[in-house]
Amino acid sequence: MGKWITFEGIGGCGKGTQIELIYNWLIEQDIQIVKTKEPGGTEFGSSIRKLVLPDQHPKLSPFTELMLFQADRHETVKQIIIPALNQGAIVLSDRGPFGTIAYQGFGKGVDLDLIDKITVEATEGRKPDFTFLLDIDPEIAKKRIKERNNSEIDQFDLEEIQFQEKVRKGFIDAAKNDKAKKVFTIDGSKQIQEIHYEIINIFEDHII
Ligand SMILES: Nc1ncnc2c1ncn2[C@@H]1O[C@H](COP(=O)(O)OP(=O)(O)OP(=O)(O)O)[C@@H](O)[C@H]1O
Ligand SMILES: [Mg+2]
Repeated sequence: MGKWITFEGIGGCGKGTQIELIYNWLIEQDIQIVKTKEPGGTEFGSSIRKLVLPDQHPKLSPFTELMLFQADRHETVKQIIIPALNQGAIVLSDRGPFGTIAYQGFGKGVDLDLIDKITVEATEGRKPDFTFLLDIDPEIAKKRIKERNNSEIDQFDLEEIQFQEKVRKGFIDAAKNDKAKKVFTIDGSKQIQEIHYEIINIFEDHII
């Protein structure tokens, strides 16, 4: 059985950057590795990803949003994550269940117990083995997004700082309440290489 590792945090915290670095590092170690993302890990999910872009349907209700993200997650878990884990791979997910608590729960007021229940169904009861939370001040994250080349504009990039503050609190709360205590919270404002080395150390000590 492999291990499922999620990378979480607000837009611009550095998830994609760090996943790319640790993905390449793991390949160098000859470790079987699969990379996926939410939303849009599957072909079906990439259609959902388009639906949740703000310019498509800007007034989606939080509940509709919740269900779309969970449907996307369910397909990714079934089609990609569980088969890869069964083959013994390490799966790196760009976003995961914490995001639903943070955005739809803390950000948009959806009931947290409801979120939990639907997440259990969506993930077939499988929980990430480890989670990296890249915690960062939304102001810094926003600046980074603006500077990012070939920027993927998504709904979360365009939300206001105040909303992002609520979301950030949601991520921190999700980490605090994680019963398995397998969350590593990292200061996302540090330099890219410094964070990468921190993540390598955690992989060596706890994951591989
Ligand atoms: N530690 C860092 N210090 C400075 N800049 C960084 C750092 N990490 C990432 N960046 C830069 O900030 C931008 C956002 O990073 P990245 O795309 O990895 O974030 P993300 O969490 O994947 O964002 P999103 O959720 O919007 O996809 C990129 O241009 C990246 O090069
Ligand atoms: Mg990204």
